[in-house]
Amino acid sequence: MIPQSFIQELLNRLDIVDVVERYVPLKKAGANYVACCPFHNEKSPSFSVSPTKQFYHCFGCGVHGSAISFVMEHQGLSFPEAVEELAKSIGLPVPHETTQREQETRAAQAAGLPEMMLQALHFYREQLKHSETAIQYFKKRGVSGEIAARFGLGYAPEGWQNLEKVFPEYAQSQALLETGLIIENDEGRRYDRFRDRVMFPILNARGNVIGFGGRVLGVGEPKYLNSPETSLFLKGQELYGLFQARNAIRASGRVVVVEGYMDVVALAQHGVGYAVATLGTATTPTHVQKLLRATDEIIFCFDGDSAGRRAAWRALENALGALTDNARLLFLFLPEGEDPDTYVRQFGQAGFEANFTNALTFSQFLFKELTRDLDLTTDEGRAKLVQSAKPLIEKVSAPALQMMIRKRLAELTGLSTAELTTLLPSPKEPRAQETQRKSPQMKARRAPSLPRQLLRMVLQQPDLARGIQIEGLDDTSPDERTLHAVLALLNRDPNISTPPAILEAFRGMPEDTVLSEAIGETLAWEGKFDVAQEFQGALEQLRSSARQKRIETLLALAKTQALSPEQKQALTRELSAGRAP
Ligand code: CTP
Ligand code: MN
Repeated sequence: MIPQSFIQELLNRLDIVDVVERYVPLKKAGANYVACCPFHNEKSPSFSVSPTKQFYHCFGCGVHGSAISFVMEHQGLSFPEAVEELAKSIGLPVPHETTQREQETRAAQAAGLPEMMLQALHFYREQLKHSETAIQYFKKRGVSGEIAARFGLGYAPEGWQNLEKVFPEYAQSQALLETGLIIENDEGRRYDRFRDRVMFPILNARGNVIGFGGRVLGVGEPKYLNSPETSLFLKGQELYGLFQARNAIRASGRVVVVEGYMDVVALAQHGVGYAVATLGTATTPTHVQKLLRATDEIIFCFDGDSAGRRAAWRALENALGALTDNARLLFLFLPEGEDPDTYVRQFGQAGFEANFTNALTFSQFLFKELTRDLDLTTDEGRAKLVQSAKPLIEKVSAPALQMMIRKRLAELTGLSTAELTTLLPSPKEPRAQETQRKSPQMKARRAPSLPRQLLRMVLQQPDLARGIQIEGLDDTSPDERTLHAVLALLNRDPNISTPPAILEAFRGMPEDTVLSEAIGETLAWEGKFDVAQEFQGALEQLRSSARQKRIETLLALAKTQALSPEQKQALTRELSAGRAP
């Protein structure tokens, strides 16, 4: 956990123009800076960075946000990672309200574990150059020197204590033991974990070595041996090849998830650079979240056998909660006996990618599996389908997706949507934070509500809101609730003074969506009118319409019952306030 005050300080100290410019060359255009959007393909620049608002926005694809979101999206980092990265760039140490996991990571760093992993990587790579059998092994599998270098492939030679040459502290170091590179037996004797294996280093999102997978060169058990989970390496969170795939994922707009190290390497070798692999575990919700941060389209690619189908189903189950309405999940099954490695070597990039059109969509695969052994012509079969679909559908938090699945379920069971709703109540309110941060084209073009207009002006000039209170805002309206929350924030915290600072204060909260939309809407405003004056006007209008509503309520009440003295007083007050200048 990073304290909110630090996020604000960081944003105050950073200049978004500098930050973006580290990754994308910018050109000045009026008050703003522009570039061809790094998040979608385009020929003329519609990506704009505003130094006054400390915000970026693409008029083409709609991405927008603060310096922090830019680094998250562009580098595929998580929020804390992006904060860490940015803070480092200006020499600011990040204070932590530490979680246990963070404490572990830092203890690992302090003990020098990352450095040891890197030294091991260098050693294994060097050894590959000297082993004709290992070189031949990779050659036989079609791996070029360039791809081997890109994935840092190496070779752990035969022998029990080769790493002694790399680590003089081999016999005593507790830290070395904790890397998982060596093992200590019951007699306290130490030996190398990886012996006579070709080595696949596993990197985290920042490119640090956190583990290894080692494969026997011929036949032998186990075929693959992996680093144990350590304080650096949590298998359920990491994806093999993600670091190397980053650019290709961005360029292609998709990621393929496969099962094996060699699948990733072979795909990259044949031009499919956007593949990653889980690490001998099922796909976890964290995996899906990580991937959806990098792109909207995930293609799970599995073997066509029953094990492959089971793995695909686990992936589907674990993806349910992490899905957003933008997410496109596809399930691709290769012909029996093939894996992506053998397939791409045979049919090449085009042949592999041609399969994508036959892939099952999320809901196709969902219902195909759910109805597998059911007879939908019987009441019993249809009832079973509703029962088995229920717990899964409930986990889907993306509102549009959930609705589509319900509709399909209604079709399959012949129930009306109303009947289905009694069996399977629909969520009360769509979760605002799950909605389309990335798809502005879906936004309806209506005249903005007054609260929305006020919100835009406050975002343009946050100081306008200081000392301002608006009574009677309706918490069930997203615009009004957000305005209320922003006013409260600005009145509480004098340090917050830019739109991204406000946005970051609401990251992950329901207000997030309305806010980032509203900021986007103000980007073209720059000096077009007197915001302070407009603000006063809109504020007065909002207050008077709220007053009008209260008056109407009281008058309507008066028709059915006698008003209490307090209510009468309130009515008189409201009526005369309306006339005051
Ligand atoms: N795996 C593992 N331990 C094993 C076997 C497999 O961790 N004993 C993991 C590895 O990440 C491996 C993946 O599961 O890459 C897929 O394994 P498998 O299908 O057995 O092998 P392939 O990837 O086809 O390996 P290869 O092509 O090298 O034979
Ligand atoms: Mn294989």
